[in-house]
Amino acid sequence: MPATIIIGTQWGDEGKGKVTDWLANDMDMIVRYQGGHNAGHTVIAEGHELKLHLLPSGILRPHITSVIASGLVIDPKALIAELDQIKEIGISDPNLIISSNAHLIMPYHRLLDQAAEFKLGKSKIGTTGLGIGPCYTDKASRVGLRVQDLLDMKIFREKLEVALDFKNQVLTKIYGMEPVEIDAVMDEYSVYADRLKGMIGDTSRVINEALDAGKNVLLEGAQGTMLDIDHGTYPFVTSSSPIAGGACIGTGISPIRVKRIIGIVKAYTTRVGSGPFPTEQENDTGEAMRSVGGEFGTTTGRPRRCGWLDGVILKYAVRLNGLTEIALTKLDVLSPFETIKIAVGYKHDGVVYEHMPNHQTVFHKCTPIYEEMEGWQADISGVTSFEKLPKQARAYVERIQEIAGVPIAMISVGPNRTQTMLR
Ligand code: IMP
Repeated sequence: MPATIIIGTQWGDEGKGKVTDWLANDMDMIVRYQGGHNAGHTVIAEGHELKLHLLPSGILRPHITSVIASGLVIDPKALIAELDQIKEIGISDPNLIISSNAHLIMPYHRLLDQAAEFKLGKSKIGTTGLGIGPCYTDKASRVGLRVQDLLDMKIFREKLEVALDFKNQVLTKIYGMEPVEIDAVMDEYSVYADRLKGMIGDTSRVINEALDAGKNVLLEGAQGTMLDIDHGTYPFVTSSSPIAGGACIGTGISPIRVKRIIGIVKAYTTRVGSGPFPTEQENDTGEAMRSVGGEFGTTTGRPRRCGWLDGVILKYAVRLNGLTEIALTKLDVLSPFETIKIAVGYKHDGVVYEHMPNHQTVFHKCTPIYEEMEGWQADISGVTSFEKLPKQARAYVERIQEIAGVPIAMISVGPNRTQTMLR
């Protein structure tokens, strides 16, 4: 069976969790392929509402094997806190495999993330402060500690000594902070090792064998296309590759094993953290989107910046990810508006851009060219079929589909499973 990928097409928080949850019934395995606990989604199951960051969305369903693949950076403390959360609702032995190759977020990564942001002042990236960037930095510099190092605490200590020798100089001499004590880290991570040991495995093999056996495998992206380190709004990006190509790298499967790539498009746009956002509405419109859409970060609680849907970004996401279909989320949030806008291009210095400008200064400074559409101003949260949507809402969906050039296969009009329509 080929694999399916779920991707965020904007700056994250598109509602990937809900779509993953919708597809989960048909899945045998759900795999996280990049990022760390900077991601966040709320999972509602059996009357329980859980906020998960690292655990894949299928973790509450016994028939699904959950995999945390090699492309992740894992804070074991955060992972164990989530395992404790699901234990409280009766899942004490989850069907979870953690890649031995995934990297470990260490206490100094968190400290360095926060100190670097503080030092940047007004130019800060607005990271989640959880140590994601510094951990990926160490991975690329080949001085990181990996999950498999938890299997031999002697080797773990040797690697930690080398790392701390340098990190403590940076912490004390550059940032004027206290050094990290090796014995304290060893004590802490030995406890984590005991707890996680039994879940560590060769996830590339596990995923490939599942595909060989004809199982349905879902590769679940975190963050979104515009936060991709190579293709996003650098430097205001995360440190991993959320796009479809990243799914193969992060899991260790071949691109030819992927058939479906579902892009999640929120009916408007949001962003947390700093960086350019051409369609942002720093006014009553944006405020209305934030309050109706409940646009506050799951991980940090920060209010999200809000604005109109950006068709240029949409086309860019279709191209980068090779989307085969789109799931449109939160259409109901636009119900109060008399008119709805979609950006179909940008203007800068007298030049019109129909595609993502290759010079980011243009993206920073451009003015969006909007198309205006009539709003529907009716409650659509109980509508269960596309045909029953008000004609203005149908026209909006069809215009998005036309811009993307990809079918909109699913539309969501509320947080519950029932508030989903298929086309
Ligand atoms: P980091 O991933 O913590 O390094 O943060 C880098 C940028 O990515 C910041 O702008 C964060 O707000 C953003 N970011 C990271 N994870 C998410 C997410 O799950 N949703 C939305 N934005 C995110």
